[in-house]
Amino acid sequence: MSDFKEDILKGRVALITGGGTGIGKEIGRTLGRHGAKIAITSRKQENLDAACAEFEKEGIECFAMTSDVRDPEAVEQVIAATLEKFGRLDIVINNAAGMFPAPIEKMSYNAFKTIVDIDLLGSYNVTKAAYTAYLKEHGGCIVNITAPFEHWGVSSMAHVAAAKTGLMSLTRSCAVEWAPLGIRVNSVAPGFIAETEGVDRFSEKAADEMDKALKGSKQDIANTVLFLVSDSARFISGMDIRVDGGATIDLLRMPVV
Ligand code: COA
Repeated sequence: MSDFKEDILKGRVALITGGGTGIGKEIGRTLGRHGAKIAITSRKQENLDAACAEFEKEGIECFAMTSDVRDPEAVEQVIAATLEKFGRLDIVINNAAGMFPAPIEKMSYNAFKTIVDIDLLGSYNVTKAAYTAYLKEHGGCIVNITAPFEHWGVSSMAHVAAAKTGLMSLTRSCAVEWAPLGIRVNSVAPGFIAETEGVDRFSEKAADEMDKALKGSKQDIANTVLFLVSDSARFISGMDIRVDGGATIDLLRMPVV
């Protein structure tokens, strides 16, 4: 749960990519609990159905449609369908991402490209489509989920670090270009978040190291996103907020993958 008032997003509509599981699902639930109508998209229908059923049990209005964010036409269709269903789109959360730890020498050309395609180009596709179909006329908020790797070389994370750091840069460019239109664009970089697929994919050795570090919850990320899309953050744009309990500024705590 968050400490924010229940109705702060009343009447607004939020689209969350990768919203069927993990951090994306928690963001959807949290924005929904605070009054937003929720649209979620991901590649797997069964995950979307399960998430929608959970949301609806809590009284959150939910719309789900499959898409792969790498496919611009599919993304445009999701945004058109969301607009048809709810009549507006105020909030876009670019959360869909792919991740696997792999040293550069063990990654194929396509492995590296796949992560850039999903995390960076996929977020661009959704951002551009939402902007064109709705945000440029009405304003709104975009939050990109990044990773706290922008200043460090992180072993076995070259692909993710490159894609997510690119996404931070895209965040700033969109924020500057679209500030006059009332569109705020920020990003949130989660640290080690318990019970997520991303963290589960690290090796046992890295997981042991991580246990010694601070580990956050999905709710910690969702609450930060909630603040950023709320009117309390109305003058915040182009920022990346690292949500990691300070882990990444303590070099001794950083686990080796
Ligand atoms: N190590 C090295 N290479 C890997 C890999 C790993 N663990 N996992 C996938 N790859 C490579 C594949 O071999 C393939 O390259 P190739 O064509 O040269 O063989 C390339 O990456 C694409 O993999 P593929 O599984 O075909 O792509 P996909 O689009 O279906 O899925 C992911 C890619 C990353 C999304 C997939 O691994 C996945 O479903 N991950 C779960 C989502 C996730 O990670 N969530 C957490 C986000 S923080």
